[in-house]
Amino acid sequence: MKRILITGASSGIGLEAARLLACSNHRLILCCRTNARIEQTRRILIDAGADASRVDGVVMDLADLGSVERGCQQLLAQGLALDALVLNAGLQRAGDPTPARSAQGIELTFAVNQLAHQLMAMRLLPLLQQAPQPRLVITASDVHDPCTGGGRVGQPASLGELQGLRSGAGFGMVDGSPRFDGDKAYKDSKLCNVLMGRELARQLDEAMPVIAWSPGLVIPRGDGGFFRFNRQRNPLGMALFSLLARDLLRLTESVDHAGGLLADLSTAAEFSTAGFSFISNRLVRPGLHRFAAVETSAEGADPLKAAELWKCCTQLIEACLSG
Ligand SMILES: NC(=O)c1ccc[n+]([C@@H]2O[C@H](COP(=O)([O-])OP(=O)(O)OC[C@H]3O[C@@H](n4cnc5c(N)ncnc54)[C@H](OP(=O)(O)O)[C@@H]3O)[C@@H](O)[C@H]2O)c1
Repeated sequence: MKRILITGASSGIGLEAARLLACSNHRLILCCRTNARIEQTRRILIDAGADASRVDGVVMDLADLGSVERGCQQLLAQGLALDALVLNAGLQRAGDPTPARSAQGIELTFAVNQLAHQLMAMRLLPLLQQAPQPRLVITASDVHDPCTGGGRVGQPASLGELQGLRSGAGFGMVDGSPRFDGDKAYKDSKLCNVLMGRELARQLDEAMPVIAWSPGLVIPRGDGGFFRFNRQRNPLGMALFSLLARDLLRLTESVDHAGGLLADLSTAAEFSTAGFSFISNRLVRPGLHRFAAVETSAEGADPLKAAELWKCCTQLIEACLSG
């Protein structure tokens, strides 16, 4: 029985992973944006067969570093070891003409997908290190890599010299580009996730498994989920895209299977190799994916950029929390 903290367990891939883990008698800590979201998620898990006494929650609105800090301090005060820290929450706002902002005025995609998760890793590492065989799992994406199918569509991920990030909270793009591109901001945030994993593994002397992974393209049916923003902005376009990619061409992965992969990454012995790895669920042909360790993009493999990104994110977090 493992004690697993997971972000993004209220929907999609994270919810399915949480369901599988909770029903396998692991102890879960759900980090959700509100108490109401925790309770809704707990109810789903309990209705699916989870033991209520094994599912706890901590409020962390990842769009507010103050909320993340309070949640982490609460966990540190409890002092209980964590066997797995699963940083899975994420959002994308492709097509947004202007940046949405977090509570601290930081571009929302970067704030939620990267900065909040780095703060969690910084604070909660001591709890992971108390566990006998801990691991850290980060849901990234193949779109961080301009050489992959998804990464080739639109502007490719690239962080430049981090000029935007270095300029303080008001930037739109991490690389300092003046024009905001929501799709690239998402790809950049996933490149940041890969670099964060690399840097964390280095800081831990490659002694703990740090797994960044890509679930493949997952388009759930219904209103919510990962493409909720696209559905609001362009319902017809999104319906056509779903019909083509999911139903006709069978390019997508199911939520259930992607959630199962995340549950495995969080607990299975086959994913316990120490050090950094990137594991991708890649489309081989319509209807068939292969889940295997692969190389990251060249930029995602740059140790100097990983260290510099970590440093700049730490400075921004500290400035925000002390401001
Ligand atoms: N779906 C895909 O095609 C795909 C492909 C590659 C990678 N990924 C990655 O997979 C991960 C999971 O995505 P998904 O497809 O499962 O999407 P999803 O169904 O939209 O789930 C996203 C999760 O993130 C949470 N979240 C977002 N903003 C938050 C905030 N401010 N505070 C706390 N939690 C917040 C959401 O909480 P609420 O429910 O409260 O909104 C939800 O639980 C993400 O990191 C995504 O980037 C997805």
